[in-house]
Amino acid sequence: MDFTIAFFIALCFVLSITALFAFIWSLGNKGKSILHGDGNIIFGEHELGKSEEPAIDGPLPLARGSDTNVETVNYHRGSEDEINERVAIDTSSRLPVVMFLTSALFWLILGSFAGVIVSLKFHFPDLLVSNIELTFGRIRPVHLNAVVYGWSAMAGVGVVLWLLPRLLKTELVGGRYAASSCILWNIALLIGAYQIVTGHTQGMEFLEVPWHTDILIIFAGAMVAVPLFLTLAQRKTEHLYVSGWYFSAALIWFPVIFFIGNVPGIFTGAEQAIVNWWFGHNILGLWVTPIAVGCAYYFIPKVLGVSVYSYRLSLIGFWALALFYSQVGIHHLLGGPVPMWLQTMSIVQSVMMLIPITAFLINMYSILKGRWSVVKYSPTLRFMLIGAAMYAGASVQGTFEAIRSVNYLVHFTHYTVAHAHLGLYAFFTMIMFGAMYFVLPRVTQSEWPYPKLISWHFWLSLLGISLYFVALTIAGIKQGFALADPSIPFIESMKVTIPYLELRSIAGIMMTVSHIIFALHFLALIMKKRTAAHEQSASLNLKEA
Ligand code: HEM
Repeated sequence: MDFTIAFFIALCFVLSITALFAFIWSLGNKGKSILHGDGNIIFGEHELGKSEEPAIDGPLPLARGSDTNVETVNYHRGSEDEINERVAIDTSSRLPVVMFLTSALFWLILGSFAGVIVSLKFHFPDLLVSNIELTFGRIRPVHLNAVVYGWSAMAGVGVVLWLLPRLLKTELVGGRYAASSCILWNIALLIGAYQIVTGHTQGMEFLEVPWHTDILIIFAGAMVAVPLFLTLAQRKTEHLYVSGWYFSAALIWFPVIFFIGNVPGIFTGAEQAIVNWWFGHNILGLWVTPIAVGCAYYFIPKVLGVSVYSYRLSLIGFWALALFYSQVGIHHLLGGPVPMWLQTMSIVQSVMMLIPITAFLINMYSILKGRWSVVKYSPTLRFMLIGAAMYAGASVQGTFEAIRSVNYLVHFTHYTVAHAHLGLYAFFTMIMFGAMYFVLPRVTQSEWPYPKLISWHFWLSLLGISLYFVALTIAGIKQGFALADPSIPFIESMKVTIPYLELRSIAGIMMTVSHIIFALHFLALIMKKRTAAHEQSASLNLKEA
């Protein structure tokens, strides 16, 4: 039995990696090797060596008080052809990008409010108990689904839809599939949220929404991959930059993982738990992680005007992620009724994740070395830097959490929740915020109207997540020791965490306020009148068309 399962897992693994390799190899057209190309491909003719930061007007100072400034790319300067091409590419993706990013912000706000309510319930247990729809068991999954499938997934898709045409130097083809996907996605999430609050769930974490509704999300996920293939077919570049590898893989993996995780009636009991956590971790590892890493590989070099330090290392990082991340999920079930070899394999794969992280860190550190001062002035870079550092932080923490002795102490504690927020918030969400500060001025052809609000957003979200993480980490460790000591009554292991849970609520409120500021600023940006320069280039573009 063990041999059969192992054989099928190995077969699926080899087949999926081979298929992915074949897909990427097929992109190396015109007889070029897939490794042919380098990090300079993301720069236009005169862009290398110049900073690009749409949230800042004018050149970036290299250091406070320094006379030397970093020259910036001016979006509306260059040859007429260059401007027209750039504006046409950004305009082609505008509708689906704005739709996805607006929806993402809606779900972020809704999910944050749900998160605050759930958090308050930990230390005010009688809060909102008279209404069954607002009880802990219902609002917690609403929070989770809103922030994972609403905020994270939709923000990721929105940014990818803007970046793909940029990477492929061609206009987005099939944007209407993406726009329809966004509508379908929102309908599915609204139905799912309604089903959860009315008590219709599948009762598994990350898989709460009933499978009938999930069919809509699978279709929406598949529809958003259509523009990927259509645009790839029309691309004007020969080589696919490493971010494109991450995005293509994520867009292909998502519907497949989502389908397997949601097939009804096949798995029961312990098998169901295995599939549940294979799915839960792959949604993080093979969907949101590649999107965020791909964004970091594009935006950090782009803002600094420097090409990636080692392009080959970035590709090794990609393959290592594809190879090792897919089997780490079972570390959520260590000590459970799961075959020992499966648990051991997940621990080994979790440790091997150090390879892609090291590759990523070497590249990011080398790009930023000597240019740290730009971080002070560039909002995109500021968010991205935190996100990139926390990719390493969350992954290394995850590696240690998978080791049996550590897992024994922290498994059923708040420590795990702190880890989840380090990954999905400090890493992924921060990268998305940084990306959105870059993308939105480009698609709306307008500038952020109140730069001070960007600082408020940054500091409130950073201080909020820091407090959240530290408070819950301490709570989790104390709780773990108390639970492991048979002489301590169970209730004491709960009481010891209360002050930290109160701190978590304060942290969550800070994060929620930062999200509201961001959403209001986004609304102000959309409503703002176009600047004269942008009007000029838009009319230039119209004349050309
Ligand atoms: C983008 C923002 C956020 C993301 C991506 C996110 C993600 C998550 C995830 C993945 C979980 C499941 C954790 C686990 O089971 O290990 C979770 C649970 C939770 N989150 Fe968030 N979250 C976000 C914002 C917030 C905010 C602002 C609060 C406010 C305090 C919050 C409070 C909670 C609470 C109370 C739980 C339940 C913890 C438990 O059951 O012990 N989250 N969140």
